[in-house]
Amino acid sequence: MENALGKLDLDTKARLLSGQDMWSLPAVPEIGLRSLVMSDGPIGVRGVHWSADDPSIALPSPTALAATWDPELARRAGHLLAQEARRKGVHVLLAPTVNLHRSPLGGRHFEAYSEDPYLTGEIGTGYVTGVQEGGVGTTVKHFVANDAETERFTVDNRIGARALRELYLAPFEAIVKNARPWGVMAAYNSVNGSTMTEHRELQRGVLRGEWGFDGFIVSDWLAARDTVRDLLGGLDVAMPGPRTVYGEALAAAVRAGEVPEADVDEAVRRVLTLAARVGALEGLDGADPAVAAADRPEAVDGEALAREIARRSFVLLRNEPATALPGRPALPLDPARLTSVALLGAAARDARVLGGGSAQVFPERVVSPLEGLRAALPPDVLTYAVGADPSDELAPAAQGFELSATVRAEDGRTLGESRLPNGEVRWLGDFPAGVTYEELHTVEITGTFTPRESGRHTFGTRGLGRFRLTVDGKVLYDGVQDMEDARDPFEAFFGEPEPRATAELTADKPVRISLTCVVVKIKDAPLQAVSLSLMHRAPERDADEMIEEAVAAAAAAEVAVVVVAPTERVESEGFDRSDLRLPGRQDELVRRVAATGTRTVVVVNSGSPVEMPWREDVAAVLLSWFPGQDAGLALADVLLGAEEPGGRLPTTWPARLADAPVTEVRPTDGRLSYDEGVFIGYRAWERRAAQRPQDAPAPAYWFGHGLGYTEWAYESAEFTPAAEPDGDDLGTLTVEVRNTGERAGREVVQVYLEVPEGDGEERPVRRLAGFASVTAEPGGSARAAIALPRRAAEVWDESAHAWRLIPGAYAAQTGRSLADRRLSVRVAVG
Ligand code: BGC
Repeated sequence: MENALGKLDLDTKARLLSGQDMWSLPAVPEIGLRSLVMSDGPIGVRGVHWSADDPSIALPSPTALAATWDPELARRAGHLLAQEARRKGVHVLLAPTVNLHRSPLGGRHFEAYSEDPYLTGEIGTGYVTGVQEGGVGTTVKHFVANDAETERFTVDNRIGARALRELYLAPFEAIVKNARPWGVMAAYNSVNGSTMTEHRELQRGVLRGEWGFDGFIVSDWLAARDTVRDLLGGLDVAMPGPRTVYGEALAAAVRAGEVPEADVDEAVRRVLTLAARVGALEGLDGADPAVAAADRPEAVDGEALAREIARRSFVLLRNEPATALPGRPALPLDPARLTSVALLGAAARDARVLGGGSAQVFPERVVSPLEGLRAALPPDVLTYAVGADPSDELAPAAQGFELSATVRAEDGRTLGESRLPNGEVRWLGDFPAGVTYEELHTVEITGTFTPRESGRHTFGTRGLGRFRLTVDGKVLYDGVQDMEDARDPFEAFFGEPEPRATAELTADKPVRISLTCVVVKIKDAPLQAVSLSLMHRAPERDADEMIEEAVAAAAAAEVAVVVVAPTERVESEGFDRSDLRLPGRQDELVRRVAATGTRTVVVVNSGSPVEMPWREDVAAVLLSWFPGQDAGLALADVLLGAEEPGGRLPTTWPARLADAPVTEVRPTDGRLSYDEGVFIGYRAWERRAAQRPQDAPAPAYWFGHGLGYTEWAYESAEFTPAAEPDGDDLGTLTVEVRNTGERAGREVVQVYLEVPEGDGEERPVRRLAGFASVTAEPGGSARAAIALPRRAAEVWDESAHAWRLIPGAYAAQTGRSLADRRLSVRVAVG
């Protein structure tokens, strides 16, 4: 390594720390260094193209992965992702996202794991371990406190040292310690006055100094803004290129004596270490024992794994007997006896399988609930009706469209072409073969559209430029969308779609369609980006009529399954949510269906919490998250009882937004104060309940809640103190549970540590201190031995700048959720 470093001159070193394009670092053949390629993350590996040309396996959303409460499953997900990365020539996966669910309004809630730092750290550890065992690097992100999206590039999050240590830094600390990640991504936001890429205290002090992190720190995309402060702050690599604050600017800063060359060398050493770890540095291939090719995990069947994780993540929130059918709970349904099922909801047909933004990947195929259930049920059992259309906006042209993009130069020459997965063109520093940004002038999206319904279809655009839209040869729109509102550099991605024209079309009759855009190139933009979309909305049917149709289908059926979901404009990177309501008339649809008296099962297809005001009026509520590409297969497995839904909530779900402990995610004058300190999630719900026993709101469903298809008895719990009193663990709780139901099942045994009463410490009354999954046959028992970390009895002492163990008589409580604790054992600490 030193040998390789010694061969590099200052300019090459500075260049090596700067992206050469959107996703990669430059190669340096003289020292046998190949170009290091990075890619998003976290539910799949998109690769270097933002298109369907190179499809990816799409696993369920990170909230879903966390809901499995199974770090081993996360590790297997990591193996698959490493396999996908290697297939696509990717060395580093830009994942996992381990920011916390501070508020349910956070736009990237679906992309993070939990409100609890311990659960987040455990799932993140499994994930990072798995990816890296496959010889691919990770960048744990976004370091730190990127917990909301509003003004994300500039917001200064004001966070007390205790909350920072006990909550927001904790998952990073656990993952650094337990999984030794090869990378960390520095966030866009500031923390306590310093933007994170420049945060010397947190990057050099805490991450490297205290925790011994030995990987590289990469900026979030476009986050690095100052050559000197970034390097001195500890940032190793500035992405994306080619124009970054490193490269030439860094070499110049060294020559001007503004930064020591030794600091540049340190950063280069870390990039070379990364290259050695991923096998991109000749002579040092596989230098890290973890990547020795022979030890790599076995080949993973991605489709099977996507389906397995989905069903293991589904959370059965409620499962009551239907009023008309007392006795057995509503689920599972018995496929042998079912005569008629009414499947309802727009998302049953057009499944929402992933959240928006950089987490997006393009799977080869998606199985919707309608397809999954149709395949699993005998013919003629299933009827389908939309019921309610949740989208009051246009969406990227998808269903029924076959599209491609043609790129032309100003003189009309065709430069290149690309297949499009839907109406979205997203080229970020990477263009179809033959196309350069300099020459690119016009993009034409062309193809056919075969409508599903007859009637008046609306077409529109998203993005900037001069647009011309034709349908069936007729020009329907010709006009300009300019820059005015582009606050976020990604506005063209996440901005509001503009309706432009309508056309009367006939079902099943294809029409030619074309959208031409003379692209706006923003002068001096740090990124060569082209983003524009053809948007579409099907004819608006009479909303009352749609609901009536669904209600009639439900009334005539034995079972009604209603799939409800947010839209792509609700859960995405780039903005926060403003409410937790299901869009459109979906709530009314559920209520009206339930009122028919037919056994009603609601499937909530959402990456993060939604209000479910009807939840007590229906027989069953199954939360399917964003279930990934095999959504419908996993749903059929679970609804029809082939498999048990295995998930438990990784975050408390409020009944109403107003009840949530943190509802403010918008900064004031550029600052967002984390005034609640260490009280987020269940920590806050419990504090409020203790302070206001009479009128504190109860959540809809507590952290840890989730039913299966069998019953469990907690038979015994025994605590064995650690032999080593100053070690990382307080001791081990051994819990014995028995499956008292009628079918085999899996139980997530949860342990919460309750603090001694009245010891004068201001801290959460209880916290998750361990968990384990066990399985048992009917009547069988299983034992879980769960180590309780010492950290669960510690607080961060702000004045001593150190962890402080609080001695006393604690209680280790074990059970099925935070609110369903079955056994309690005394744990003497200190
Ligand atoms: C996101 C990161 C992502 C990066 C590259 C950023 O906007 O915050 O999570 O890895 O883009 O796509």
